[in-house]
Amino acid sequence: MFVYDPAFLQTAACRSSITYLDGDNGILRYRGYPIQDLAEQSSYLEVAYLIVHGELPSRAEFEKWTHDITFHTYVHENVRKRFMDGFHHDAHPMGILVSTLAALSTFYPEASAVHDRANQDEQVVRLIAKMPTLAAFAYRHARGLPYAYPDDDLSYAGNFLNMMAKMTEPKYEPNPILEHALDVLFILHADHEQNCSTNAMRSVSSSQVDPYSAAAAAAAALYGPLHGGANEMVLRMLKEIGSVRNVPEYIKRVKQGQVRLMGFGHRVYKNYDPRARIIKQIADQVFEVTGRNPLLDIALELERIALQDDYFISRKLYPNVDFYSGLIYQSMKFPVETFPVLFAIPRSAGWLAQWEEMLLDQEQKIARPRQVYTGAPRRDYRPMDERM
Ligand code: CMC
Repeated sequence: MFVYDPAFLQTAACRSSITYLDGDNGILRYRGYPIQDLAEQSSYLEVAYLIVHGELPSRAEFEKWTHDITFHTYVHENVRKRFMDGFHHDAHPMGILVSTLAALSTFYPEASAVHDRANQDEQVVRLIAKMPTLAAFAYRHARGLPYAYPDDDLSYAGNFLNMMAKMTEPKYEPNPILEHALDVLFILHADHEQNCSTNAMRSVSSSQVDPYSAAAAAAAALYGPLHGGANEMVLRMLKEIGSVRNVPEYIKRVKQGQVRLMGFGHRVYKNYDPRARIIKQIADQVFEVTGRNPLLDIALELERIALQDDYFISRKLYPNVDFYSGLIYQSMKFPVETFPVLFAIPRSAGWLAQWEEMLLDQEQKIARPRQVYTGAPRRDYRPMDERM
């Protein structure tokens, strides 16, 4: 006997001690710590350590972790020269990221020893360190800009801003408010229990393939518009709506089932997404530096109408993490096609923590769902000339 549960609506595929999520009450905790507390008091690198190692680091542990990650930010020159440069000039940065992530497995063949703990830890550091570099290089290539190399003096978020924005200045100095905003956004995206990309990471890794190949699969899952591609789609949607006065007409189309209200709804949150609340506060800080994003009024009006409309209320559809993050990214001058890449960078910590947890879990085996066969019964082969 087995259970038929398409899209795993009712099925837990693993035990996990990483992220706690209560969708009815809008609660999200990493290793027991509320997301609000981490967003206010921690940093992305500390949160990444917490997610991967299960506890907050001591000062010495944090210094070593930061040093190790900073030390591994460079990628082999062949990744840049041969891989990045080989892509078409208008290649989507997420497509480049997915491919170069997979390519890293060929640079680190020792990563295939997945059950060696020291080896595991090394790949975790490497991957978290290299994600911003790959992401920024992908963007630079797609824009035809010269690559900017990592600056080890800067924070994780600050260095990413450096690799994205540095031009001819000898030393790039990130705006502290924007650097902090990006760091908080990274914290909010670091893990989210068994979401589509994490499920891909676990499922692919369950064959015991190396973590770079599995992370490429996870990033590919994240690329989709129903998952990490949603923030890009929110921006495109707001641009398409164009003006506050067109909002009621757009809501009508959503209710007729012609389009989805991107950035709304969630498989698990049926009350509100706690990350969306934090992002709204961050948006205010960012707009003080960058000026108000003109699309914000359209977003606020969409949210206002949707939150009073029975279609959305009855289906428990609320703004999710992607609804406002895109507006922040756009105000920070990130082009829309880099939005999913900005999601992938911090989610790497979650993917890797879940990967290590799965490898240590004695109850896990190769992921291999069952199916309900709906095809033809047994029939006899007929030579081509005898077929109708
Ligand atoms: N706009 C309009 N209607 C919607 C939406 C939406 N965004 N989301 C769900 N619905 C409707 C859906 O049509 C269905 O209605 P009915 O019962 O009449 O058929 C009902 O609500 C339930 O929807 P569902 O598709 O069964 O829900 P799901 O849990 O399978 O989907 C979701 C969750 C996030 C894929 C979906 O809400 C969606 O497509 N949202 C827009 C894309 C988006 O913002 N994604 C980011 C998710 S958060 C970040 C992340 O995890 O990546």
